[in-house]
Parts: sequence; C-alpha cells; structure tokens
Amino acid sequence: MAPAYWPDAARGLDFRLLAPNSHHELSMEFVGSHILSIDQFARTDIDKIFAVAAKMEPYAQRERATSVLNGAILGNMFFEASTRTRVSFGCAFNLLGGEVRETTGFESSALAKGESLHDTARVLSGYSDVIAMRHPQAGSVSDFASASRVPVVNGGDGVNEHPTQALLDLYTIEKEMRGRKRELDGLRIAMIGDLKFGRTVHSLVKLLCRYRDVELHLISPAALCMPEALVEMARSAGHTVQISENLESSIAHVDIAYSTRIQEERFGSRAEADLYRGKFRLNQSVYTQHCEPNTVIMHPLPRDSRADANELSTDLDGNPNLAIFRQADNGIVIRMALFAMILDVVEQVDKHSHPVRWYTGSRF
Ligand code: NCD
Repeated sequence: MAPAYWPDAARGLDFRLLAPNSHHELSMEFVGSHILSIDQFARTDIDKIFAVAAKMEPYAQRERATSVLNGAILGNMFFEASTRTRVSFGCAFNLLGGEVRETTGFESSALAKGESLHDTARVLSGYSDVIAMRHPQAGSVSDFASASRVPVVNGGDGVNEHPTQALLDLYTIEKEMRGRKRELDGLRIAMIGDLKFGRTVHSLVKLLCRYRDVELHLISPAALCMPEALVEMARSAGHTVQISENLESSIAHVDIAYSTRIQEERFGSRAEADLYRGKFRLNQSVYTQHCEPNTVIMHPLPRDSRADANELSTDLDGNPNLAIFRQADNGIVIRMALFAMILDVVEQVDKHSHPVRWYTGSRF
C-alpha cells in the first residue's frame, strides 16, 4: 500500500484517517503519516504519543543526547507569526539529532510571487524528510500535504486546528492532574476568551472527546463563542457543556482554567478586536476569590500583556498552579515524540544516545 503521504493516497486521506477513527477506537499508523487534525487520533494513539513523550524527557532535560536523526532534515515552514511553536518544532528535531531548514513569513517566500501551495509542497518535499507548517488559511496545511512527498505536521492552519498544541496541552493536564491524584476522565475545564477564532481550543475540545464525563465551561463574549459543531461534538461524546459570559461563576469549580488571547489577526481591524480585549481577566485576586485552591491555570501563549488586554496577569507568576511555562516546555517532548513516531525511530532513540558534554546546570 502507498504510504499515507503520497499525493494519490493523500487524496483519500479523509477516508483512510478520518473515517475509521470517527469511532474513536481504531488506532492510526504513525509511520509516514501526516498529522493534520485531532480527528486522526483514537484514545490509544494519544496514550502512545504520551508514552513516547515521557521517554523523551531525559533528552529535553539535557540528561542524555541522541543522534538518531543524524542526516534527516525538517522543513519548518511558517507562513504566519510564531515564536514557541516554530522554535520548539525546530529544537525537537535538533534534539533528535536532525537538521532544520526554515522559511518564515509569507512575504519572504515564493508564495508572494504567486506560487501555489501545491507547487511549493512538491518542491520543498524534495528537500526534507518531514515538514512542519503553519499558514493563515483553514485547510491549507491539508492541501499542502496532499501534494507533499513527505509527511506534513500541522503547526496551525488559520482558525481551524492546532493539533500538536492540543496534544501538549493534554499532556500538561495529565501531568498536573497526576500530582493531584486525578485522571483525565471526569476532568472539569474552563476555556476562556476567544473561542471562535482560537484554534488551540478547537483542537483541545476534539481531543477531550476521546475521554469520558468531561465538564466543559465555555466562557466568551457571545460573538466569540465556540463553534456549534464543536459544542455538539462534545455533547455527543457525553460531556456536559456550559456556555457563559460570566468568568467568576464559571471558574468556581474547575480543575483547569485555560485562558486564551483575543485573536486580533483574525479580525477586520484592531478596533473590532478592541471590543473584546480585556473582557475576561484572570489575576491573583480573581483566582483567590473564585477558584478552588488547586485550580491549574493554563494558556497556549503568547499572553497579551498590554494594559488593555492583560488576560492573564503577571501577578499570577508566583502562583505554583500557573502551569503556562511547564506547558510550553512540554511542546518539546510532544513534538520529539511525533517526529520519532512518524520517522519510525522510537526504538532507536536510546541506542543512539550519548552523555551530554556541555554545562546544563542553569536550566532548572
Ligand atoms: C497559539 C496559536 O498560534 O494558535 N499559540 C501557540 O501556538 N502557542 C495561540 C495564540 O496565538 O493565541
């Protein structure tokens, strides 16, 4: 059978990857596959990714180094603003011993000369072993993947999805809950802010549909509410969904308060985004008055720290339940795990490992 990333096979991707897993039971083949949407994953796939990610921790912590991907090249194609996603994809590949080649920004790429995504994909896939890509249009990364000769990982396609972010979010939630002797089933989570344009929460809602009895509190201005299809998906998975415009009452009984940024770049103008900016501010005083004492605070970052936004106040930085930087750190092990699984080197990572020769003391 043709590998999943071949153009002809990719045209059948919807059937091959999406249909079987709409039952949430059949696991997917990682080797040679694109990672485009959370729709691809069954719960057992998520378990596998998390198990491999845990094996990557010593490498992320610089306790060991590995050269398993020596000679492999990641094409890191970011046609939209990014700091941590782009850099962590690159660092994850470097930590496995591979090389990274990057394009950043639309204007500095041949897309600005009118080249199609199809042609760009045909060309760049001749230069790389795997491609990570971000693009402002929903569905663009799938289109690109259908013409790519190598696996493509979605680093965010417009308002649609951000699957690797959702995986690192859930990995973080699992770790934080483990410390509290809680599991993912039965999780109580509040998602706050721009739930209409925020792709991280779209992918996270899909991911949570693989678990049982989740309580979802969706807090946003009415104009920026979670798309109906995702609310329906959560309800069909048996979850309780509560929709609200009131931050204080909706964060009172949750395990996780997941704040998000108003996605200014998706609005027609800055003035339009300003209508919603700063509506739901989580700070230490709101937290102390309204949250249970151990509520974990998350945010995919970047947080908008300008005075008129300040959605997640820096006065929370000393709060041990603020998990945002642990969350960002977890992007490395999740992306390492995905690369190792897609390129079929999971079992070889340790065999190609060696001690770290440089100073590592200051990172902890
Ligand atoms: C998010 C994104 O780009 O969707 N950031 C990220 O990847 N960590 C969230 C955002 O930009 O607000």
